[in-house]
Amino acid sequence: MLISGASSEFLKLTQEQIEEKYLVSWKNGFLVDCSQVNLPICWSPFEQAAKQLTEHVEKKSIRETVLKLNGDHDIPKEKRQQLVLHKILTFLTSGYIWQDGEEDVPKELPWCLSKPLTRVSDALGVQPILSYPSMILGNWKMKNVDKPFEFGNVNAMYWTPGGDGAEWFIVTHVIIEQRFAPALDAIVEAMKHSSPGSEDNAKLVEALRNIPKVMSEMMYTFTKINDGVQPEHFYDELRIFYSGWGNGRNPLPDGLIYKGVYGDKPKTMKGGSAAQSTTLQLLDAALGIKHEGDQKNFLDEVRDYMMKEHRDFCDVVEENSNIRKYVDQCENDDVQLAYNKCIDAIRNFRNLHMKKVDQYIKRPSQRNDRRQAVEGLKDTGTGSTPYLEFLKRVNEDTKNCTLTKK
Ligand code: HEM
Repeated sequence: MLISGASSEFLKLTQEQIEEKYLVSWKNGFLVDCSQVNLPICWSPFEQAAKQLTEHVEKKSIRETVLKLNGDHDIPKEKRQQLVLHKILTFLTSGYIWQDGEEDVPKELPWCLSKPLTRVSDALGVQPILSYPSMILGNWKMKNVDKPFEFGNVNAMYWTPGGDGAEWFIVTHVIIEQRFAPALDAIVEAMKHSSPGSEDNAKLVEALRNIPKVMSEMMYTFTKINDGVQPEHFYDELRIFYSGWGNGRNPLPDGLIYKGVYGDKPKTMKGGSAAQSTTLQLLDAALGIKHEGDQKNFLDEVRDYMMKEHRDFCDVVEENSNIRKYVDQCENDDVQLAYNKCIDAIRNFRNLHMKKVDQYIKRPSQRNDRRQAVEGLKDTGTGSTPYLEFLKRVNEDTKNCTLTKK
C-alpha cells in the first residue's frame, strides 16, 4: 500500500543514505563486508575454537572446549563486530548441539554461549541460532579485492564440519547474494518512476528490464552448487548443522534451553535457510507479489531472522512501492511486458530452486544407504516447512501476479 508522504521520504534518500540506513550496498547487495573486522582480544578463544570447529567435532572435543570458555564479556558496540561475534557464537552452538548428529543431543546450551549469544542477537535484532546473516552475509572474504567476485576468489571465513562441500555451499550463496546487487538500484528507480506525480514509462521500463538480468545471473551461479557439493553429502553431512529446534521435532521437540536466559524455558528456533535471504522477499515486496496462508506466515516469520536493517528495508519498500498498481493502471504495453518479464524471471528462479531442493533433499532422502542419524529433518526443510508443497504454492502465488491486458 502506498503511504503518501512516507513514500516521498524514502524516495528522497540518496543512494548513500539508503546504503547507510539499511546496511546494503549497490556493489554487494545485502552482503556485509566483515573481512577486516577484529574483535576485542577477550573473544580470541571463541574465535580459535570456531576456526577449529571441524577438527573439534571430528575428535568429539567441541563440548569440553566450549565449556572451558568464559562468555562473561561486554558485547561490542559496532554493528560489524556484533555480526562477527554472532557468527562465531552460532557456529560454535551448531557444533556443540549437532556434534553426534541426532544422537546424544544436549538439551541446553551452556551459559558461556547462551549469555553472549542472546545479548548479541538482541543487539543485532536477529535470532540466537546459526542463520543467514552470519552464515552467509557476513561470512566471506575476497582473496584479491582487485579481481572479480567469483568462485576461486571468494572464500568463506567459517564453515560447519563436512569438508570442502561445507565451504562451497556457503560461497555459492555468497556469490548469489552479490549477483543480486544491481536489483537494488533497479527497484529504487522503478519505485521512483511509478510513484504518483513522477511517473515515467520509459525510465520505469529501463529499470524493470534489469531484474530478469539479475535473476539470470543468480540462476547461473545457483547451478554451480553442483560443482562443489554433492546432494548426498549435503543431505547426510551438512544439513544437520543448519537445523533448528522445537516445533515438536525430534531430537529437541520442545526447543533448546539457553542456560540462564528466557527463564530456562526451552526456546523454539527455525534452522538456517536461504529463505532468510532478503533478496526474494524484497522482489516480492517491490513488485507487489502477495503470498497467502501458510506461505505468508512462514515468510513473515523468517523476516525475524534477517538483519534488522534488511527487514526494515523490506518493510519500507513493501509499504511504499506503487509499481504493481501503476503498471496495472497505466495501459502501456511496454511497461506491462517489462513487469511480467520480472514475474517470469522470479518464477524461473523459484522453479530452479525447487529442482535443487528435489535434488538435494528429496532424492537423497529416498536412498536406502542414507545416514539414519539425520532423519528428524527428513520431510522438512531446515526452516521446518513441508518443503515441496510449500515451495510449489509460493511459486503459484508468483504466477498469479502476472498482469493481463484489461
Ligand atoms: C541446495 C541448496 C538449497 C536447498 C536444499 C534449499 C532448500 C530450501 C527449502 C527446503 C526451503 C523451504 C523453507 C525451509 O524449510 O527452509 C527453502 C526456501 C527458500 N529458499 Fe532455498 N534452498 C537452497 C538454496 C537456496 C538459494 C541459493 C537461495 C537463494 C537466495 C534460496 C532461497 C530460498 C527462498 C527465498 C526460500 C523461501 C521460498 C521462496 O521465497 O521462494 N535457497 N529453500
